[in-house]
Amino acid sequence: MDKIKILIDEQTVDKRINELGEQISADYAGVSELHLVCVLKGGAFFMCELAKRITVPVSLDFMSVSSYGSETKSSGVVKIVKDLDEPLKDKDVLVVEDIVDSGRTLSYLLEIIRNRGPKSVKLCTLLDKPDRRVMDVKVDYTAFEIPDEFVVGYGLDYDQKYRNLPYIGVLNEQ
Ligand code: IMP
Ligand code: MG
Repeated sequence: MDKIKILIDEQTVDKRINELGEQISADYAGVSELHLVCVLKGGAFFMCELAKRITVPVSLDFMSVSSYGSETKSSGVVKIVKDLDEPLKDKDVLVVEDIVDSGRTLSYLLEIIRNRGPKSVKLCTLLDKPDRRVMDVKVDYTAFEIPDEFVVGYGLDYDQKYRNLPYIGVLNEQ
């Protein structure tokens, strides 16, 4: 068994998502629809919790990307494994991610999204590891900044495991 130390407990995550939901609802007050784009699979848990707390009308779409190159070192060139169902033209888009690490995946993905002609694009992430940043990515909403440690839970995995943990934990390999 891998040992997992709780970094951010369930209650703290939920409370923070409540705050973000309120902030996003206020920032987008009056829009006819906010289009949430979830980056699978990690972003799914966060997006569902966030969407429930947004009071402006919301629509959802999902995409899945994988990075080219070695597993451990993201090249920044991502392949779209599952594309969005809906066009983004003239939509207010909020991209929802689990974590911004080097920023390579997001900077590439945001360029693809901007090229589809949305009215606006913002980025919301559950976690941010600013110390690890290689590519400049503007994050509009961050639930938590965390140190440079490998975390699991709340959508984040280690080898596809632990996504369903209701808290965010640090994995100590034994
Ligand atoms: P980036 O292109 O380096 O920003 O890569 C971000 C991706 O790496 C995320 O979407 C995650 O899938 C993965 N990742 C980065 N840090 C962690 C971590 O601490 N735990 C689990 N996955 C991570
Ligand atoms: Mg991800």
